[in-house]
Amino acid sequence: MIQTPNKALNEWIKEIADMCQPDDVYLADGSQEEYDRMIQICVDAGLATPLNPAKRPGCYLFRSHPSDVARAEKRTFIASKKQEDAGPTNNWIDPDELKATMRGLYKGCMKGRTMYVIPFSMGPVGSYISKIGVEISDSPYVVINMRIMTRMGKAVLDALGADGEFVRCLHSVGKPLGPGEKDESWPCIPNVDEKYISHFPEERMIWSIGSGYGGNALLGKKCFALRIAGVQARDEGWMAEHMLILKLTDPAGKVHYVCGAFPSACGKTNLAMLEPTIPGWKVETVGDDIAWMKFGKDGRLYAINPEAGFFGVVPGTSMDSNPNAFRQIQKNTIFTNVGLTDDGDVWWEGSGVPAPAHLIDWKGNDWTPDSKEPAAHANARFTTPAAQCEVIAPEWEDPAGVPISAILIGGRRKTTVPLVNESTDWNNGIFLGSIMGSEITTADITDKVGQVRRDPFAMLPFMGYHMGDYLKHWISIGKKTDAGKLPKIYFVNWFRKNDEGKFMWPGFGDNSRVLKWIMERIDGTGKAVETPIGNLPAPGAIDISGLDVTEDDMAHLLEVDKEAWKIEAANIRKDYEIYGDRLPKELADELAKLEKALG
Ligand code: OXD
Ligand code: MN
Repeated sequence: MIQTPNKALNEWIKEIADMCQPDDVYLADGSQEEYDRMIQICVDAGLATPLNPAKRPGCYLFRSHPSDVARAEKRTFIASKKQEDAGPTNNWIDPDELKATMRGLYKGCMKGRTMYVIPFSMGPVGSYISKIGVEISDSPYVVINMRIMTRMGKAVLDALGADGEFVRCLHSVGKPLGPGEKDESWPCIPNVDEKYISHFPEERMIWSIGSGYGGNALLGKKCFALRIAGVQARDEGWMAEHMLILKLTDPAGKVHYVCGAFPSACGKTNLAMLEPTIPGWKVETVGDDIAWMKFGKDGRLYAINPEAGFFGVVPGTSMDSNPNAFRQIQKNTIFTNVGLTDDGDVWWEGSGVPAPAHLIDWKGNDWTPDSKEPAAHANARFTTPAAQCEVIAPEWEDPAGVPISAILIGGRRKTTVPLVNESTDWNNGIFLGSIMGSEITTADITDKVGQVRRDPFAMLPFMGYHMGDYLKHWISIGKKTDAGKLPKIYFVNWFRKNDEGKFMWPGFGDNSRVLKWIMERIDGTGKAVETPIGNLPAPGAIDISGLDVTEDDMAHLLEVDKEAWKIEAANIRKDYEIYGDRLPKELADELAKLEKALG
């Protein structure tokens, strides 16, 4: 059995190997040579296709099983000892019962495979904000992706030392191989109802089986950096959030750092890498998905991006929507579930590149532009090193983190929510965070089309404990420092539509105009008007020079429709009922204040 300097880790490796019975155990060192070797294992097994090096050097394509294409929210469990601690928004199973079930599934599940031990750090190795995890997985695809998405291997083991603590992350694709048997395609458990992505928050432990895809399998990301780290953050007085981090520099060279919480598929990666359309302004990227924030000695909140790569949605990525990402994924990138062209390149819907006459689609079938099915799966992904991003901020790996001036929050709302709204103080900002969400669309397969799916701080799928306690934790953070040192919270909505159903705001690079107003507010020069919902830009305060947005649209984008807000307030009151007595009093007060202001 392999030995590491850490006794607890050695014991855990032995325990898991005894249960899962792999043919081999391998300790990942994180080297380039190892990465290349792992890729070759996948290529030799027929799981990966090298792309044409003249077109996409260092890039590979994987195709997953059609049942295994996204996070399995229904199969994601928070197994806290008490059900009420998981709260009303999570799936709960008693931890002893869940462990017994899963031990049965894990027994012998790695037969015929190698068990990879992957030490990783979320955040720069050694930063006071970072944390260490060890993932055990039987998937070389996971090893490759973890090397891009985290700091991984020997340096982490050195930092862990003899008695350092780590989060235990166990993963198996759940498909043992018989003697001489080989994978014929992407291994997983095809029946979705037999997959488990389980969290044991009190033990800081994750057990996943049956899926090899994304957040179900790369356990550092959503499972650790949000669900388990969220519980650690609550207990230790810091924040683990589903937020991008960007650096904004104004024409005079003044810098502000901004975090942003948006639900999946609201353009977080695009915003993090935005190319401003207003002259002299610059955006650089610190992170595109997760922010960990702790107080610095000066009483301000400092954020790190715990990840080292971007795991982004490919379809829709184009020179228009995100030129930086588009250029970034030209090399050293893993593609999963996009189309493969006849000349060994990749293609996807919304790329802005004309469709080729023929390709092989994400399911491995012939495809032409006449095909009814898309060439790429809607949740096809790229895994690409952050360091390779042309607009990565030089300080993105600073172990001290970056001081946060503002937090943006927002979902997709056709109506009611204006383009931007400044909260009046920290608790009012938390109130706005608690009511954010998106309108349910027909794509959600439910009878609730048109209603708002509340997604507090975009954490609904990523909560490791009771959502009411999470909101209470936000309130307690605000009490730890001077009000003036806290980031200001802004509610934004890029997705407002007019009566003809057209988006009124151009979005993408033009969102820099909203960022500009926010910076002016922080610096004390931006003009605002007070309204019942918060401070909105005064007429003319948003720079729309050179933009094809009419005054009328602008007035609509910045209106507070009192009647619509009265309905919204009534809906919030109803939606708040799920928290029962765990609704923080401060938020009940904010709601009452809003109702009163609306008259
Ligand atoms: C993601 C998500 O993959 O939020 O980042 O779904
Ligand atoms: Mn995300």
